[in-house]
Amino acid sequence: MRPHEIDRVLLSQKQIQTRVAELGREISLDYADKTPLVIGILNGSFIFIADLVRAFSFHCQVAFIQVSSYYDDTKGSGTVTIKYDPIGNIEGQDILIIEDIIDSGHTLSALLELLRQRNPASIRLCTLLTKPSRREVDIPVDYCGFEIPDEFAVGYGLDYAGLYRNLPFIGVLKFVV
Ligand code: IMP
Ligand code: MG
Repeated sequence: MRPHEIDRVLLSQKQIQTRVAELGREISLDYADKTPLVIGILNGSFIFIADLVRAFSFHCQVAFIQVSSYYDDTKGSGTVTIKYDPIGNIEGQDILIIEDIIDSGHTLSALLELLRQRNPASIRLCTLLTKPSRREVDIPVDYCGFEIPDEFAVGYGLDYAGLYRNLPFIGVLKFVV
């Protein structure tokens, strides 16, 4: 990894670790007597979910789903396509969705709608990051790691063009023109 590609560190490895442990404790209080299905949204959530579930003190199942979003910025509309969905029947189950970052909110809005149609007992949402200033649709976030400014974040699962996911911290990319 070439250090000059990162403009600055937004969240250090230590800051992330501390917050993930806190989130794990907070979520564990709410699910003490439940066995939810924890659904990670691929690919961005893979590191967050791996750390987070190890901070849970309740039993849970873990599964993944992958969606891709295409937006028309000029119209402010778009479609969300399900690329990988092995989950199937979730009727009567408690669902905890794990996302890396919520930006406009379109991806989660579509995914929540899809999962609600399958009649789960409950759906809660946990995101590591959120950019509130970018929101276009209202999303009910139950657990959030950090609010960040409108900057492009990479690392700890988040990518730019498929790269930087393996950085142990979250940084802002330096765009060279
Ligand atoms: P939304 O549908 O606009 O909320 O987009 C959410 C998705 O866009 C996330 O799951 C990420 O894959 C991607 N994304 C949004 N902002 C960032 C960022 O700052 N860094 C990396 N990926 C991002
Ligand atoms: Mg994502």
